[in-house]
Amino acid sequence: MKWYKALGIIDIDSTFIKKVKAGSKSICLVGFEGKLYAVSAKCPHAGADLSEGLCVRKLIVCPYHRYTYDLETGKGGEGQNDFIETYPVEIREDGVYIGVNSIWDKLRLGFK
Ligand code: FES
Repeated sequence: MKWYKALGIIDIDSTFIKKVKAGSKSICLVGFEGKLYAVSAKCPHAGADLSEGLCVRKLIVCPYHRYTYDLETGKGGEGQNDFIETYPVEIREDGVYIGVNSIWDKLRLGFK
């Protein structure tokens, strides 16, 4: 797993949704009730930018058709049968980091 520093995160205790880059991935970083969540920024339904959506309880709501996704598990709401990718987040002395598995990491994990 490779860790990428999320740039432009100032107040991690506030509620926010921000699109950040982690390598080649666009990630939606969400601050909600003192916790940070990192999920895929692209909605699997029709490709909307989830960073333009809303955060309600522990769900991110897509701005296009209001599909919802759990910020911890990535699981779509009832009846959606879809999910978004989730990523680990670490708060270090020098900032916020997001962990991203490469395709090789995923293959290796798949064989464990
Ligand atoms: S594009 Fe996200 S719900 Fe349709």
